[in-house]
Amino acid sequence: MSAPACSQDGCLKSWLCRIGRILFWLPWVLAIVGGIYALGRFTADEPVGYADAVSHYKYGSTGGERESGFPYWIWRALPQICPEHLPGKGYASLGMIYEAGKDLPVGVSKRRNLGLDRVFLNCAVCHTSTIRTGPNEPAQLVLGMPAHRLDIKAFETFFFDCAAGPKFSAEFIVPEIERLAGRLSPLDRYLVYPVAIGLMRERLLMLRDRFGFAFKQPEWGPGRVDTFNSAKVLFNVPMHALPPKELLGASDFPSIWNQAKRMKRDDGARMELHWDGNNTHTEERNKSAAFGTGTTPPTIDLKAIGRVENWLLTAEPPPYPLPIDLERAGRGKALYGEYCAACHGASGKDFSGAKVGHVTPLAEIRTDRARLDSYTYDLAVNQGTLYAGYPHRFQHFRKTFGYANMPLDGIWLRAPYLHNGSVPTLRDLLEPAAARPASFYRGNEEIDGQRVGFVSTVPSARGQKFFHFKTSEPGNGNGGHEGHVFGTDLPAADKDAIVEYLKTF
Ligand code: HEC
Ligand code: HEC
Repeated sequence: MSAPACSQDGCLKSWLCRIGRILFWLPWVLAIVGGIYALGRFTADEPVGYADAVSHYKYGSTGGERESGFPYWIWRALPQICPEHLPGKGYASLGMIYEAGKDLPVGVSKRRNLGLDRVFLNCAVCHTSTIRTGPNEPAQLVLGMPAHRLDIKAFETFFFDCAAGPKFSAEFIVPEIERLAGRLSPLDRYLVYPVAIGLMRERLLMLRDRFGFAFKQPEWGPGRVDTFNSAKVLFNVPMHALPPKELLGASDFPSIWNQAKRMKRDDGARMELHWDGNNTHTEERNKSAAFGTGTTPPTIDLKAIGRVENWLLTAEPPPYPLPIDLERAGRGKALYGEYCAACHGASGKDFSGAKVGHVTPLAEIRTDRARLDSYTYDLAVNQGTLYAGYPHRFQHFRKTFGYANMPLDGIWLRAPYLHNGSVPTLRDLLEPAAARPASFYRGNEEIDGQRVGFVSTVPSARGQKFFHFKTSEPGNGNGGHEGHVFGTDLPAADKDAIVEYLKTF
């Protein structure tokens, strides 16, 4: 087939002939222009970049949006579509932190991908939070500390329940997007967003089913996640077939500063870390954590993770912001050296100590065993296949039989204490378990300068309700880390002195 050739004879004929020619070429031209547009729009794959390491940590991409990203405007619209599934107003009510002038909370990154801006979580969402030095003092952002206010299960539940409800459809979401973003082009309105909404709904309903195990557990509350049962989901483990004793692993978010000093211990080997000491390589712990930010071996952005990794090597906690009684802290230092330093390091900056980075057997530490049991030999073997074929194939996960003796840098920022976050303050941890609070409130950002940790005795403040944590629930036990070796039989004044010294960490 070829375009009609136009002869010169007859005006009308020539005019009709030209139209015929245009009509012949038009579809081709449109197809090419449309193709170039589609190629440009739908193949773009570009994260929002940040020049400085701190902004990159807070808002930079790890590559997770490619596999797991929510379309930005759907993310923005959903709190208005499903307000009944949020505890309060917007994502901030889940404990996410908005800095002034930002449209996304700390720990959420953005990338242009598949023709849309897509957003997902990064490391900072679980490893950054805020503190206040008094009830009416301003909140200060602290990078690298545990996100003790983030309720990640409520975050998941919000998306899952919204997707399962009747309003997760283009009919409801597209008008909300147009209200927020302005008029969409016909392509976006009738094709791109309806397809994106449909795909997102399918995916969320699938995940809702897979993560069903988590909804049978006692509430995690803010600042905790079941790390390694979530990892089992990644391997398509049939969760319903697992023995109940391994299905309960809610763990407190840890701090992640000073990773360089965490590489070596006194005997020259690598520190065994994670709460149960199941991995000796900080690089592997980082890549393992990156699954939590939605990445998979083909989609991880190694350069971007590398920047975070580098920054974490030497990132440090800020100094304690309230007054410290130096005389008392000096006495505490001697006691700490005698009782604690061998397991936890000489100080907040010096991590040397014969047993630092070793695992203390459960029979000796006697803290709640659920987190330990949730990590299994089977999972370790499966994790050994992660990144198979890559130079950085996982090799260092293994099953242990206790909990790790970790450095205590910034320990005043890491409350509540122990791997399951079952002890509200440092002073309480120095009491025998029977004298520790049986229940308390989590999620307050106000520093408790007396007992050291966060204020845990009030159910609400500044219009926010806190989570009532009960140590009687399975997996929440507050026993262990007690007896002579752990300083719980010292006189009260000595315990006070150790707590004062820990403020300098
Ligand atoms: C969903 C929340 C979440 C996200 C997102 C997350 N982490 Fe973590 N991270 C945790 C929890 C919980 C643990 C403790 C795991 C355990 O032992 O049970 C942890 C442990 C770690 C540790 C080990 C701490 C130590 O030295 O013992 C490192 C390092 C770490 N994360 C780095 C990262 C990095 C880097 C990222 C981003 C790529 C990241 N995390 C993203 C929750 C998270
Ligand atoms: C035999 C080693 C050992 C000794 C001695 C020891 N600890 Fe621990 N400590 C541990 C282990 C193991 C854990 C983790 C237990 C868990 O989370 O279940 C821990 C946890 C902690 C935590 C909680 C860390 C966090 O991020 O939640 C603090 C604080 C702490 N210890 C302080 C002390 C102090 C203070 C002393 C001395 C009075 C001391 N420990 C003595 C092994 C020890």
